[in-house]
Amino acid sequence: MFDPVDLSGRKLLVTGATGQVAEPVVAALAGGAQLTAVARFARQEDRDRLTALGAECVSVDLADPEGLVGLAQDFDYVLNFAVAKTGSFDHDLAANAEAAGRLMLHCREARAFLHFSSTAVYQYAGHQPLAEDAALGDNHRAMFPTYSISKIAAETVVRFTARQLSLPTTIARLSVPYGNNGGWPWYHLLMMREGVPIDVHPEAPNYYNLLHVDDYVEKIPRLLAAASSEATVVNFGGSQRTSIEEWCGWLSELTGLEPRFRENPEAFGSLCIDHQRMHALIGPTRVDWREGIRAMVETLAPALLVR
Ligand SMILES: NC(=O)c1ccc[n+]([C@@H]2O[C@H](COP(=O)([O-])OP(=O)(O)OC[C@H]3O[C@@H](n4cnc5c(N)ncnc54)[C@H](OP(=O)(O)O)[C@@H]3O)[C@@H](O)[C@H]2O)c1
Repeated sequence: MFDPVDLSGRKLLVTGATGQVAEPVVAALAGGAQLTAVARFARQEDRDRLTALGAECVSVDLADPEGLVGLAQDFDYVLNFAVAKTGSFDHDLAANAEAAGRLMLHCREARAFLHFSSTAVYQYAGHQPLAEDAALGDNHRAMFPTYSISKIAAETVVRFTARQLSLPTTIARLSVPYGNNGGWPWYHLLMMREGVPIDVHPEAPNYYNLLHVDDYVEKIPRLLAAASSEATVVNFGGSQRTSIEEWCGWLSELTGLEPRFRENPEAFGSLCIDHQRMHALIGPTRVDWREGIRAMVETLAPALLVR
């Protein structure tokens, strides 16, 4: 298992900094590292919030080939969280794949580059835990038409560029990130509250690996340590496997609200990970998913709790 790199005092670039996954990382790291946060920052309140966390905010449109002009280049570490899901293949391939290559060229002197990908790159394979060499496929087409293909394209660009530049790189395929700022289980709770049906694949249960924000914040310095110029590809999810059915059941116990499941063969279906490589490189995660979900509800909707 890799020891974490020490980020204190290091120059850290975080893209997609206003996003669900990255913002808690900014909150956790901005005190120690010299953190530059990149996004388009169309909303002033996003910029104000991140600035208050201690980040230097720089507006960049990553889809623009000239977007990085003027951005510093001397970053020690890069965390590339940015993602576009507009539904336009032209735009999303540019923003997700071409942009990742440009960013690596721009920061070619970095000690390590960490690119966040998704288990949405895998072909659906039922309940089989998926290792990093599992077949790739257009998994999320039904809901996000460009997502899986542009994430696969981005990985390919990142691998190519890492090798060309000998830039130590890790590609982390996220499962289901969540925490006190929300995530998929939070949307499920909102659907339960509103009586909206929750689509599930008929091959129940629909397994995933919830990854709590405390765990991913703790693992990021280890993922940076695991970077290689071959590009280290690793699944990144919680060590416990659970399912939509189980976490909605737990939300139901906590709140008394009942989920309405609706079978839909177009729903994503199980996407659970094989942990072998992840555990060898960065070790197991710690947060128990039931505790993580309880904390999420306590933070975001305490009035809904009945136990
Ligand atoms: N959330 C999940 O459940 C999940 C699951 C698996 C993997 N992931 C991966 O985790 C990473 C973060 O996801 P997320 O859910 O946090 O994303 P998100 O909430 O949709 O945020 C996307 C971020 O990208 C920025 N962005 C979008 N287009 C941009 C552009 N053209 N130029 C510059 N910045 C741009 C957005 O900021 P502006 O709009 O201000 O530019 C925002 O900060 C992604 O790589 C995603 O694939 C997420």
